[in-house]
Amino acid sequence: MSYGRAQELPPDRKMIPFDVLVEEVRETLGLSEMAHIGWIVAIERGLMVDADHDQLLRVLLNLTRNAAQALESRAPNDPLRDQIRITGRREGAVVVVEVADTGPGIPVKAREHLFEAFQASTRTGGTGLGLAIAAELIRAHGGDISLLESVEGATFRFTIPDRAVDLDAHRGARQRA
Ligand SMILES: Nc1ncnc2c1ncn2[C@@H]1O[C@H](COP(=O)(O)OP(=O)(O)OP(=O)(O)O)[C@@H](O)[C@H]1O
Ligand SMILES: [Mg+2]
Repeated sequence: MSYGRAQELPPDRKMIPFDVLVEEVRETLGLSEMAHIGWIVAIERGLMVDADHDQLLRVLLNLTRNAAQALESRAPNDPLRDQIRITGRREGAVVVVEVADTGPGIPVKAREHLFEAFQASTRTGGTGLGLAIAAELIRAHGGDISLLESVEGATFRFTIPDRAVDLDAHRGARQRA
């Protein structure tokens, strides 16, 4: 089975409006059919993220799909209690994103190798790839992902630093011109 950076293309990065991407996540996830799960978004106004659109979409889908699965594992659900929350903000040259849910939290036996392929799955039918792929894609952007301690549910935080300005490339382009 193919997974991981060796099989992924290097990120093709541009500045993407983060709120538009998050809306695409909601539509792709099919949350409208899961009206019993609340979807809360708090994104800093005008936030732009310097990322590969398809790869960042995949990261967010893997995280939110896990959250939805965790919430659904203890149906019946109530959207006031059962929520997926996405926050996004910029800290200097780094965009910080959190994906949190109010589900049962990460099972203890899944915690140790959470971001390693085939290690962490506790779900029937789960392959244990979602978080490993998310971590690879984030690292390919120069960012990092971690599980935060939270009182309830699960909260993941990841960072996407802006591309560094490549002065050599600029200089080369000027010399060629
Ligand atoms: N939001 C969450 N709440 C509770 N448990 C979670 C959450 N996210 C991940 N987990 C736990 O971590 C395990 C690994 O997640 P991961 O996405 O890597 O694999 P998977 O969901 O089991 O399979 P796949 O994503 O490949 O279909 C899950 O099986 C689940 O036990
Ligand atoms: Mg998963």
